[in-house]
Amino acid sequence: MNNPFVYGEIAVGAAFTGRKKELADLSRGLESGERIFLISPRRFGKTSLLTHLLEGFKNKGLLTAYIDLYRCASMDQLAAVFTDEVLLKAETGFEAVARLARETIPLLRPKITLEQDGQLSASLDLGKSRNEQSAALSELFNAAEKMAKRRKKRLVIAFDEFQEVTVLGGEPLEKLMRASFQTHHNVSYVFSGSRQHLIADMVNSRDRAFYKLGRVVFLGKIAEGDFRVFIGERFKAIGIKVEEAAFKRILAETNAIPYYVQYLCSFLWNKCREGAKLTADLVYETATHIADTQAPFYMGILEHIPLRQRRLLQVVAQNPEGKLYSREIAEMYKLGPLSTVQVSAGLLLKKGILEKENGGYVFSDPFLRIWVLKNIGSLGKT
Ligand SMILES: Nc1ncnc2c1ncn2[C@@H]1O[C@H](COP(=O)(O)OP(=O)(O)O)[C@@H](O)[C@H]1O
Ligand SMILES: [Mg+2]
Repeated sequence: MNNPFVYGEIAVGAAFTGRKKELADLSRGLESGERIFLISPRRFGKTSLLTHLLEGFKNKGLLTAYIDLYRCASMDQLAAVFTDEVLLKAETGFEAVARLARETIPLLRPKITLEQDGQLSASLDLGKSRNEQSAALSELFNAAEKMAKRRKKRLVIAFDEFQEVTVLGGEPLEKLMRASFQTHHNVSYVFSGSRQHLIADMVNSRDRAFYKLGRVVFLGKIAEGDFRVFIGERFKAIGIKVEEAAFKRILAETNAIPYYVQYLCSFLWNKCREGAKLTADLVYETATHIADTQAPFYMGILEHIPLRQRRLLQVVAQNPEGKLYSREIAEMYKLGPLSTVQVSAGLLLKKGILEKENGGYVFSDPFLRIWVLKNIGSLGKT
């Protein structure tokens, strides 16, 4: 029997659980033409949710496209990926594609090739000057609206890791996207991102191009009840009953972050197959073991962090509520003035090592928390 727990790849099919409310809300919004910004820390399940969502739309006969901005390292690549995912995949037959090349995107001088797997792919010439590039990109974005209109179908486009637009094209690209997207009535957009403050800043600042362009949805964790059933069923299949204490411990050691829950469960499943009994102790032991295997990586992270920030990590590790700004704590851990604590915390957030949660601070990687706790004695001295 294959290990039923999946981590580090998109959770689809049987590996996907819960999210009913989120799916219903996003579906309703996007089907009615909304633009939505979907925000959560990394590894909460945005990409999996988007995949599921688009699959649902496709089954209903809508047109869909998924664009991962991490795949786009230049404007040319963005244009090529957009053409592939939005325009070519939605069209079938050479005639349609030829018309697309002839009528819709002539400015782009596209070279469309037939890949070995039968898929069409485009490479584009955006032109040399800034103006040429902007005109071509606008044309391209607007081609999506034209296509949806011609096909008489709603098109839903998901941009994943959307905060990358700031790196890719900065303000000019943002402005150009806004100018084009806001005129589209047959295309719905969902912009998803894991750098929460970056995306929130894009939507909430008056001086930014995406100001109030859409609704912001914060994606939370998966409901506890859904995970209880999901995990319970998978262990039951190998004859193991998951006691409530063990289940609670799984959620506690992983801070209930979907990726880490599946990661830990995957290891536990292997151990149980080898005859171990699933207890809260085994959960703790296994989580610690995983943290140990990451030691070289964690040491690498900590090496580059100044002492003050490392102390702060100790504090967060030892104080699960993550309330840093109390005089008591500052004195106990010799953290210095509260203003310095704030600066250090800000830097750790920026580095993606900590996240804000319910007004406090938590580790982005809960196994790093375990590792810091275990190695805490030696930390302060280095
Ligand atoms: N709905 C879900 N059901 C079960 N596991 C999930 C779900 N969503 C995410 N996960 C777990 O979290 C991991 C990361 O999911 P992903 O969609 O890549 O997150 P993100 O895009 O937010 O970084 C997946 O590999 C899987 O282990
Ligand atoms: Mg993702």
